[in-house]
Amino acid sequence: MITNLDVAELAATYANKSPQDILKLAFQHFGDELWISFSGAEDVVLVDMAWKLNKNVKVFSLDTGRLHPETYRFIEQVRDHYSIQIEIVSPDSARLDPFVKEKGLFSFYRDGHGECCGIRKIEPLRRKLAGVQAWATGQRRDQSPGTRSQVPALEVDGAFSNEQRTLYKFNPLAQMTSEEVWGYIRMLELPYNSLHERGFISIGCEPCTRPVLPNQHEREGRWWWEEATQKECGLHAGNLIGKA
Ligand code: ADX
Ligand code: SF4
Repeated sequence: MITNLDVAELAATYANKSPQDILKLAFQHFGDELWISFSGAEDVVLVDMAWKLNKNVKVFSLDTGRLHPETYRFIEQVRDHYSIQIEIVSPDSARLDPFVKEKGLFSFYRDGHGECCGIRKIEPLRRKLAGVQAWATGQRRDQSPGTRSQVPALEVDGAFSNEQRTLYKFNPLAQMTSEEVWGYIRMLELPYNSLHERGFISIGCEPCTRPVLPNQHEREGRWWWEEATQKECGLHAGNLIGKA
């Protein structure tokens, strides 16, 4: 069993290992209890690698209610392609309904994405992770120079652990570049989100994602009306510690 004390050492040992080696470490310790978080974008690579190591792999997606139609279709396509269940986690209507009633559907353009992401992403993720020991994400260092340049192979999740239990977070793709991810998708002919054919690189919710121009960084297509260094929605709040 991994303990808090081992994490730093393991992260150092696995810093330059392959994504598959990092996933093997995760499965070795957590078996079928490891949950993969799938956003419906190029992190299909993570689902593919995990599924090849464990056909019982557990996958969940956060359905904010604001994803592109293409993303919903793609999530379904991945479900069929691998013959896996994908748990879809929805916002709590007791929080969502009053928020939308009071502020409408596009308040994030006026007062920032924090409140909406809090209700549509963070609370559902917190609920999902409450009974989970370990999760894996498709975060990569090259996705955001501002917030992700230090993403480790594994870490204690500082944002979603609680007093009852430590939550371990694996980032098997941390060292992969966008080029490598797309090389993998093309070489193995994986399915991909059709938005990528229309200039989208990083994909989140429809109102908060747009394609980027040539040589613009992929993160610039997310919450483009906000400050570059703050482009995290809170799913990976640990990345912001010390950057506020
Ligand atoms: S975000 O925090 O800005 O939205 P990003 O789109 O870069 O995250 O994706 C990084 C990783 O976060 C994904 O590979 C995935 O593991 C997780 N993630 C992001 N959005 C979702 C989602 N809607 N459902 C499940 N996991 C997600
Ligand atoms: Fe709301 Fe935009 Fe955050 Fe999606 S990304 S939860 S629409 S603020």
